[in-house]
Amino acid sequence: TAITVTTREGVEHELRPQDGISVMEAIRESGIDELLALCGGCCSCATCHVFVDRDPVGQLPPMSADEDDLLESSSSRTDRSRLSCQLPVSAALDGLRITIAPED
Ligand code: FES
Repeated sequence: TAITVTTREGVEHELRPQDGISVMEAIRESGIDELLALCGGCCSCATCHVFVDRDPVGQLPPMSADEDDLLESSSSRTDRSRLSCQLPVSAALDGLRITIAPED
C-alpha cells in the first residue's frame, strides 16, 4: 500500500507500510518524527492529527465520536482532519495522500 506523507516542512515521503498497522505507526516507523502520538494510538491525545489531501477511493473508516471530540479540541481542525492512529493501513488506502497537521 502506497501512502504519501507531507511533513510540516513540506517534504514528501512515499511510504509502503504493511497492512494492519495504523497510518500513525506507519509514519513513525518510516522515521518521520513529527507525530508525538502521546497516547500510543488509543484515541485520547490528538497528537497524531493529519489532513487527508486525497482519498482516492473514499475508503477511510468513518470517524468515531471520540475522534470527533478530540479533533474538536484542535485549533487547526479542518474538514480534512483525521487522527492517523484511527486509520488502519489496507490495500483500500493505496494512493492516500496526507499532510501532518501543525502542532497545537
Ligand atoms: Fe493519540 Fe492518535 S496517537 S489520538
